[in-house]
Amino acid sequence: MKLFESNWFPVLLGVVIVILTVKSIFSSGEKKDDLFLSENFSSTNEWQAPDISSLPDDVQGKLIRYGRELIVNTSLFFGPKGKIAAITNGMDCQNCHIDAGARNFGGAFSGVASTYPKYRERSGRVESIEFRINDCLQRSLNGKTIDSTGKEMQAMVAYLKWIGKDVPKKETPKGAGLETLPFLDRAADPEKGKPIFLAKCASCHGENGQGQFNHDSSFYLYPPLWGANSFNVSAGLYRISRVASFVKNNMPFGQASHNSPQLSNEESWDVAAFIVSQQRPEKFFGEDWPKTQTKPVDHPYGPYADNFPEKQHKYGPFPPIVAARKNK
Ligand code: HEC
Ligand code: HEC
Repeated sequence: MKLFESNWFPVLLGVVIVILTVKSIFSSGEKKDDLFLSENFSSTNEWQAPDISSLPDDVQGKLIRYGRELIVNTSLFFGPKGKIAAITNGMDCQNCHIDAGARNFGGAFSGVASTYPKYRERSGRVESIEFRINDCLQRSLNGKTIDSTGKEMQAMVAYLKWIGKDVPKKETPKGAGLETLPFLDRAADPEKGKPIFLAKCASCHGENGQGQFNHDSSFYLYPPLWGANSFNVSAGLYRISRVASFVKNNMPFGQASHNSPQLSNEESWDVAAFIVSQQRPEKFFGEDWPKTQTKPVDHPYGPYADNFPEKQHKYGPFPPIVAARKNK
């Protein structure tokens, strides 16, 4: 062991040289373009967003940068004091799509360009990227849609296409969107989640969960987790599995990551239960889930294709619901 420790550097160097040699032998037959196109995707297992500073300052580069700006500072444009229109709750897209969707397991946008347009069960139709963005505007931002041919929509779409440009068509990289966490065998428990919330979340989001505005209330320093200015009950994040996953891999902000989560699986489900047990805007879309049997097990509102009560669909335990579906 001692011998190995003192020799780790030459050993590591040796390993690196072998890898590089093997790589160059195997890639020498490929066309340069292929290699270049797939580099971000295949050189490491983890997807990496392209570098925004590498964009030229031409018309397209400007449009993509504007799209990113709209995703980072959505409230300045569309919030209650927005300079384009006051049509949202004041949250930013980036509140849930960390680093403007560049962070794996933090609502990453890595799989958008490669998979849209795509069929989604919630709407029962093929959705464009524009449709999906307007979905988050109406639900996550509890707001109104924007014109899908307008400059702002075009800019956000251009940004999403650019950020996912290196991902091969139809592929969804690991880390896209949110992770699927293992279910607990019991129901997630708001009573157990509350003390976790007070100890680890309230310092930023407030004991009342209402977040904290900047000095002139034009945007949130810390976004609200429930209440009138939070996402509504039809948002994806209102599903307990989505919020538990988001929190486990990303919260407390600046400390947690996929590789070093700060909460256990159990704690994540319980704190998520506490969050979804609170009041928030009740906006429903009658056209959602045209086929009830395709509703996710943790969709908190019926009707369902099974006989489990809404409460169990909201908090679990989920394994019995999964098992009953398999038996059908
Ligand atoms: C309250 C949190 C929240 C906010 C704010 C939010 N989103 Fe989302 N968004 C989600 C969740 C949750 C999903 C589904 C992710 C999953 O289940 O993997 C999603 C999905 C998406 C997708 C589809 C991703 C995919 O891979 O299929 C797009 C595109 C998107 N959001 C764009 C936006 C834009 C643009 C904004 C701002 C106008 C925004 N979102 C604001 C939570 C949010
Ligand atoms: C250090 C401050 C801080 C702490 C502590 C913290 N958060 Fe956050 N949280 C943030 C910030 C900032 C964002 C928005 C990220 C962005 O815009 O880049 C956020 C976003 C969120 C979101 C998505 C947006 C929304 O408003 O719904 C949820 C859910 C969330 N946090 C839950 C939690 C939970 C649960 C905990 C405790 C386990 C926690 N946070 C601890 C700062 C914090």
